[in-house]
Amino acid sequence: MKTDILTKEDIKQLVDTFYDKVNNDKVLSPIFNEVAGIDWAHHLPKMYQFWGTQLIGTMDYQGQPFPPHMKLNLSVDNFNRWLQLFTETINDLFQGANADMAIYKANNIATVFQYKLGISK
Ligand code: HEM
Repeated sequence: MKTDILTKEDIKQLVDTFYDKVNNDKVLSPIFNEVAGIDWAHHLPKMYQFWGTQLIGTMDYQGQPFPPHMKLNLSVDNFNRWLQLFTETINDLFQGANADMAIYKANNIATVFQYKLGISK
């Protein structure tokens, strides 16, 4: 039976599983790996902190989520795919109030990012 997102181990499983999917996605993978030239050893721990802070109160994320997205030339389709993979990851692994909150927050932040990028429909 699936449980809710409750511990740092759960956050790590969520983030690792999601970015595995991203890395296997033919549209998103090149954006992360070729356009952004991402350093995964640096990015993944930052994302553990980000989602830990959002969902289980670890309060260890210090950063600005939006700026790295400004120069990636992202489209509405890119965001929709990101949200699809994220939602799939959550629904495959977890169930509960924090799982629902993760999907809710991801959608809200994606909406704000698209608005700031001037690509919202
Ligand atoms: C098309 C969708 C997206 C793409 C392609 C994308 C890609 C990226 C890339 C390339 C970075 C920079 C990594 C680095 O070089 O350190 C990044 C950082 C980040 N992204 Fe996204 N992202 C997307 C959507 C989102 C969404 C919807 C959220 C939140 C729900 C999010 C949260 C973050 C955060 C928190 C960081 C780290 C910012 C920092 O503190 O430096 N991203 N993203």
